[in-house]
Amino acid sequence: MKNKDWLVTEDGQYQACKSVREWDLLRHPYRFYRFLTEVEDVLSHVTNEIRCLPEIRLLVRRLLANSYWVQTRYLEPCPKTGTSVLMLYEEFSFPLTVQTVTFAPGVVSPIHNHGTWGVVALLRGQEKNTFWKRINDPDLKDKIEEIGELSLVSGDIISFTPDAIHSVEALGDEPTVTFNIYGETHHQKRFEFDPLTHSAKNF
Ligand SMILES: [Fe+2]
Repeated sequence: MKNKDWLVTEDGQYQACKSVREWDLLRHPYRFYRFLTEVEDVLSHVTNEIRCLPEIRLLVRRLLANSYWVQTRYLEPCPKTGTSVLMLYEEFSFPLTVQTVTFAPGVVSPIHNHGTWGVVALLRGQEKNTFWKRINDPDLKDKIEEIGELSLVSGDIISFTPDAIHSVEALGDEPTVTFNIYGETHHQKRFEFDPLTHSAKNF
């Protein structure tokens, strides 16, 4: 089955995106530093970073198709929390964060947005994404409702606009591992939502 590329927006909608032809992906070698440089080049040419998501999805696909190193950079889930994060790249004043994240089976993330664009590729396992959107309610400004869900399998890529809201659940019997790249983090725009109390807090 051919893997898919998805885009999620702040209205909770998701759409399948045109993916790359596989013969356009192969480069040998294609190392992590070249990926970072090419992402930086893509971002430096635009004012609206959301417009870059197709190109960044392509670069992520190219990296995963060619880099065994990246495919093997992840931690086992922490026995206490069920999750682990391995930071691959983070630099002050460089507008990118790259990490792999491991979830033990059954782990569910909080409902959150990222306050920046993001591209996430599933390296191992299966996960369910649930999408939410803010509801216009003058009394409860952080009220959200569930819009839909999408199950991803290893090899799928999902991308998010800064205000897209989702939660993630690891499905199946094996830990899930994702490769995640995010733009510049604005902590004041990044929220965790509580759908019961209709509240949100920065994280
Ligand atoms: Fe997320």
